[in-house]
Amino acid sequence: MDESKKYLMNTYNRAPIVLRKGRGMKVWGSDGKEYLDFVGGIAVNCLGHCHRKVVIAIQKQAQRLLHVSNLYYIEPQIKLARLLVEHSCTDKVFFCNSGAEAVEAAIKLARKYAKDHTALDKYEIITAHGSFHGRTLAALSATAQEKFRKGFEPLVSGFKHVPFNDINALKKTITRHTCAVMLEPIQGEGGIKMPAEGYLRQVRQICDDRGLLLIFDEVQTGIGRTGKLFAYEHFNTEPDIITLAKGLGGGVAIGAMLAKDYVAASFQHGTHATTFGGNPLSCAAAVATIETLLEDGFILDNCRRMGKYFMKSLERLKKDFPSLIIEIRGLGLMLGMELTKTGSSIVNSCADRGVLINCTSGNVLRFTPPLIVVEKDIDYLIDVLEDIFARLS
Ligand SMILES: Cc1ncc(COP(=O)(O)O)c(C=O)c1O
Repeated sequence: MDESKKYLMNTYNRAPIVLRKGRGMKVWGSDGKEYLDFVGGIAVNCLGHCHRKVVIAIQKQAQRLLHVSNLYYIEPQIKLARLLVEHSCTDKVFFCNSGAEAVEAAIKLARKYAKDHTALDKYEIITAHGSFHGRTLAALSATAQEKFRKGFEPLVSGFKHVPFNDINALKKTITRHTCAVMLEPIQGEGGIKMPAEGYLRQVRQICDDRGLLLIFDEVQTGIGRTGKLFAYEHFNTEPDIITLAKGLGGGVAIGAMLAKDYVAASFQHGTHATTFGGNPLSCAAAVATIETLLEDGFILDNCRRMGKYFMKSLERLKKDFPSLIIEIRGLGLMLGMELTKTGSSIVNSCADRGVLINCTSGNVLRFTPPLIVVEKDIDYLIDVLEDIFARLS
């Protein structure tokens, strides 16, 4: 920990825990302490830590081929693209290495499509207050949260922001310069905010009426997190472009931007590229992750069942501690508990008791465990929270 202060930039507010090993729902510190992991790399470790099939896929691929340029065809990349296309409403995939990069690719594709098909001055993208789309400059410009943007101005121009769930504000903000609307189907970093009933469908309708593309940033909601492979499936609303990362590689860094054919056609040779995007190793891990997720539907089914059980248990806590808990929100295993106070001390107390949880937006406890979590894990966390809340109230 001392060395980290010396050698690492001070960009993260880390807990005083050194994690060395993980298996399933559990991780272990360098002191041997065991933790139940309800953070899951913030919605990354969808199959749990070091899932056997992902590890074997990585080992096999590492022995065969680690990296070649995208100047050549790469089998695991094509296999992964086919899996994503066959299980989504999209037709083509561009691979990159992170969520922010997937968002950058989506922004570029939306602008290019608008320029190819309409007017040269159509480039604006509308996003929602409370959104989070990543830390690179354009993704940050799309992100409508002042705390992340402060200090980095001037940001990239061409982004407008409207309140989430406010259809009229969206209608009023569209101009002849608008080319797309980009939303997280469920806001993650913004505090696990659900879309209002019918909101995403109405946004789709407006986009159709006004000739705009609809981008769903599913970096956090995607890959089974909400109980379906993609969150858009819950809302009967198909986007034109989807961004993915986090859970896609089952713990290995990979991002993807998926689009319908008519939009994807605007990316041609030389329009966009990345050296490592879609490399053999990360694609082999992602293929194993998605095949395992879809294998017999068991994991997605577990996510839905455990999500409901978890939600009920959190609601019970809310009843018991009305002065501490404002609301429980979320879907599947992307759940949030909004508190009347800041959550950091609760996060620390949970870690002391051997459970890792996360807090976002200052006062929203966020739970994004591996999708293999079982009732007894949830019961343990609830007992720990109950004890902590009892001491606080
Ligand atoms: C919805 C959403 N988009 C984009 C990002 C950025 O992803 P990354 O941190 O991989 O760049 C995140 C990260 O939390 C996210 O939740």
